[in-house]
Amino acid sequence: MSKILVSGGTGYIGSHTVVELQNAGFEVAIIDSLANSQIDVIDHIEQITGKRPEFYQFDLKERHDTRAVLKELDNIDAVIHFAAYKSVGESVANPFKYYRNNLQSLMNMIDGMNRNHVRHMVLSSSCTVYGQPDVLPVTEQSPVKPADSPYGSTKQISEQIIQDAIRSGLDMNAIALRYFNPIGAHESAKIGELPVGEPNNLVPYITQSVAGVRGQLKVFGNDYNTPDGTPIRDYIHVVDLAKAHVVAIKRLLEGKNKANYEVFNLGTGTGNSVLEVIKTFESATGQNVNYAVTDRRAGDIEKVWADTTLANTELGWKAEKSLADALRSAWNWEKNYRNI
Ligand code: UFG
Repeated sequence: MSKILVSGGTGYIGSHTVVELQNAGFEVAIIDSLANSQIDVIDHIEQITGKRPEFYQFDLKERHDTRAVLKELDNIDAVIHFAAYKSVGESVANPFKYYRNNLQSLMNMIDGMNRNHVRHMVLSSSCTVYGQPDVLPVTEQSPVKPADSPYGSTKQISEQIIQDAIRSGLDMNAIALRYFNPIGAHESAKIGELPVGEPNNLVPYITQSVAGVRGQLKVFGNDYNTPDGTPIRDYIHVVDLAKAHVVAIKRLLEGKNKANYEVFNLGTGTGNSVLEVIKTFESATGQNVNYAVTDRRAGDIEKVWADTTLANTELGWKAEKSLADALRSAWNWEKNYRNI
């Protein structure tokens, strides 16, 4: 049985990926600082899969701890590296926090892997690297645009760090997965997205607003050049996204990768506007969303959705769940969490 080390494994995408890895028969060890997640997630993963992942709480910025844990876990076959800060607005206000955390952690992880002969890594990247693309849908060949935020920069630089490490001669294979907009929760409603404080992202804001935890949802602008005037994104169910990580890990472990470094877009291939998300949420859950259109949010792009051909053909992976499935699962998670 192969063993996978998942950094950031108690976080939103990390926890769903741990569940899918365990369901696929992998053994899992998690490293997480718990800076942005809760320890109970480990219990909830165990309730879903019947298997408790190994857990190490420490900060990957600590190079010696990283080396020591990778040495202690001397039977790791591959790493999935999620651990990173992810708030766009916070990164603008506090750029050093983002550069220090997101980049130092990755370098320490690669250093620890190299010392302990772990050769395979899957990296959590983002469609943010494309900025506002000139041509839609976005393929992996679309140009990487100057980042709009330090958060976006850290994703671009993270991809570059891995490529430079390989070019320097490190014996390493890596796959960077560029996520579009992950939403939703596990069907058990035992794990889901739990942002600290006021949510920045659309779907957790909707579910918390409907749950009565937040006030009215603000729709940030309806004067974009889109059919209904609101911005378009490619919203992908987090469980579909999690499954893609399992496929990527198998590709590396089975030596099916075609280069030492590969990149794949992970989206559904379909774009939906903010108003479409609201309407679909209402019809999928029977709940009313209280919203008002306000000014645009600084830094928002107009529209982006993925060309998923490469992931479909090369990985043999395709998003299976619908927007309605994802929104229903997000609401079920919120209800379960708030005891509604
Ligand atoms: N939106 C609202 N009201 C809200 C929150 C969001 O109208 O309260 C709108 C935004 O204006 C945008 C859409 O909903 O049009 C989606 O916004 P999100 O914040 O959910 O997602 P983003 O596309 O802005 O951000 C996501 C990830 C980032 C990543 C970015 C890359 O959350 O980590 O995609 O484009 F950097």
